[in-house]
Amino acid sequence: MPAVVFSAESLTKTYVTGEAEVCALRGVDLEIPAGEVVVLLGPSGSGKSTLLNIMGGLDHATSGQLFFRGQELTSLDDRGLTAYRRQHVGFVFQFYNLMPSLTAYENVALVTEIADDPMRPDEALALVGLDARMNHFSAQLSGGEQQRVAIARAVAKRPDVLLCDEPTGALDSKTGIRVIEALLGVNAQFGTTTLVITHNASIQAVADRVLFFADGQISRIRKNEARRTAAELVW
Ligand SMILES: Nc1ncnc2c1ncn2[C@@H]1O[C@H](COP(=O)(O)OP(=O)(O)OP(=O)(O)O)[C@@H](O)[C@H]1O
Ligand SMILES: [Mg+2]
Repeated sequence: MPAVVFSAESLTKTYVTGEAEVCALRGVDLEIPAGEVVVLLGPSGSGKSTLLNIMGGLDHATSGQLFFRGQELTSLDDRGLTAYRRQHVGFVFQFYNLMPSLTAYENVALVTEIADDPMRPDEALALVGLDARMNHFSAQLSGGEQQRVAIARAVAKRPDVLLCDEPTGALDSKTGIRVIEALLGVNAQFGTTTLVITHNASIQAVADRVLFFADGQISRIRKNEARRTAAELVW
């Protein structure tokens, strides 16, 4: 039995803005075994990003409990969450947020210079197939290549979990497939537990587990007996 990396019990999140309250999470229970690729699907506003942000230590839950390898994240203050994020979490977002005036290598080095046990930037870029482009400025790279640099940047510190919020949202299908391939390659090589939010239902075929969101809750969980490779995807 693989270890459980995340477990949540009755997790809720209510945003309060002025007099308005929005219940973004209404009691989420889940268990994520270490090393899995998990895809999160669901309509806009159903709470996917809210859950991912809480799992990544970017935000606090309102009630309920969330554990990372048995450590309760929901009892940590901002300082504790920052330390957790630094040590354990890599993020990939829809927009790559690279520094345009730096090369691919330098963008990754920004992270490896402050991490405890990082890979070399060129090693991280090789993982996503971009070692030959490491001296190019990010402005000289395509959207898909920039996203792969962002993945290299996220994995260079050897995180235990990789949290991806619509990583292919801005990409066409061919480059999107290359990005999924890069994520699966990292998962295969390092066993990095990988969560991917997407609006593209075809991506669920590459997952071990699919979480379906509806109205602030997980309405269904599906376990895939066999995972597809990125090359088998069509969208
Ligand atoms: N910072 C915030 N302040 C107030 N309300 C918020 C905030 N962030 C999210 N919400 C609300 O919480 C609910 C869930 O939002 P969330 O971003 O988690 O949805 P999502 O499933 O990621 O949607 P999408 O697919 O559009 O990204 C929505 O009703 C949203 O408007
Ligand atoms: Mg979202």
